[in-house]
Amino acid sequence: MSPFLLTRTLPEDATDAALRGDVLNGLTRTPKTLPPKWFYDARGSELFEEITRLPEYYPTRAEREILIDRSAEIAAATKARTLVELGSGSSEKTRHLLDELNDLHSYVPVDVSESALRGAAEALLEERPGLDVHALIADFTRGLALPGTPGPRLVAFLGGTIGNLLPAERAAFLSSVRSLLDPGDALLLGTDLVKDEDVLVRAYDDASGVTAAFNKNVLNVLARELGADVDPADFDHVARWDPQKEWIEMRLRARHALSVKIPELDLVVAFEEGEEMRTEVSAKFRQEGVRTELAAAGMELTNWWTDREGRFALSLATAR
Ligand code: SAH
Ligand code: AVI
Repeated sequence: MSPFLLTRTLPEDATDAALRGDVLNGLTRTPKTLPPKWFYDARGSELFEEITRLPEYYPTRAEREILIDRSAEIAAATKARTLVELGSGSSEKTRHLLDELNDLHSYVPVDVSESALRGAAEALLEERPGLDVHALIADFTRGLALPGTPGPRLVAFLGGTIGNLLPAERAAFLSSVRSLLDPGDALLLGTDLVKDEDVLVRAYDDASGVTAAFNKNVLNVLARELGADVDPADFDHVARWDPQKEWIEMRLRARHALSVKIPELDLVVAFEEGEEMRTEVSAKFRQEGVRTELAAAGMELTNWWTDREGRFALSLATAR
């Protein structure tokens, strides 16, 4: 049996306290907001996997195409012995990297979703019984303590998840990633790219309503974890492109005036008819912006690869 370790770096009640803090802070301000990490309970992680198979949701297919084409090059450039993956989810696309990293000793998937980590590790270990998998249940925005596995280390952050952080959070996050890199280590970063508004909006408002269900799932999390008496049917899914900020915003819009009781927080939240609560931003990037943000965090962009249609990019960066 190959080694599989699952470490919770968050204290048992940290998620609970963080959710309470985010809900209290986000639902008592105008406009109301919630951070997107609360989408990902077991159901939310399943819904995200469904999204990746939708005809409208191109980022997963585009990034997979780049990984298929470039993983050998990435392996040759990095010679990684430890692959750390932040927000690893199902680790589905990571297989292409794992296939090429011939000197790999350890794979360290990091995610807030325990169900996603367990499912991914189970599937990977069935295919690769020799792989050392050290999974971490952790919030990648809160500082990471990585296991002492051998270098060189490649830190992968795929899927465009960096776009779900707000600009100030992104800068802090990239600096914390930089602090994980020793000389010879590298960051592999997936970013979705600015493109036609129709294509973007369709990717976040699909015809079969899976993204709407994913968006509304955050309300189920509030009901289960905090006793909120909220009915997802009272809200509509909204996906809107902001051309100034160059991001998609997902929101939940109240279909009529209503109030939500949250007994665990001793809070009643009033929504006016049509009031919108922001649940996610998904920023889209350009090469110069990525280069500049990496440089500001002390990293140098060494490679930039896109899929053939130029929809999505993978960047390789090293510490400066
Ligand atoms: N990398 C995968 C999954 C992307 S979905 C892919 O490219 O398909 C985003 C993943 O990041 C989810 O699995 C979610 O649980 C995780 N995630 C979101 N916010 C997080 C945070 N703050 N800390 C750790 N994991 C997070
Ligand atoms: C995980 N993340 C990169 C996805 C995105 O595209 O921003 C989450 C998502 N939201 C709606 N659809 C997918």
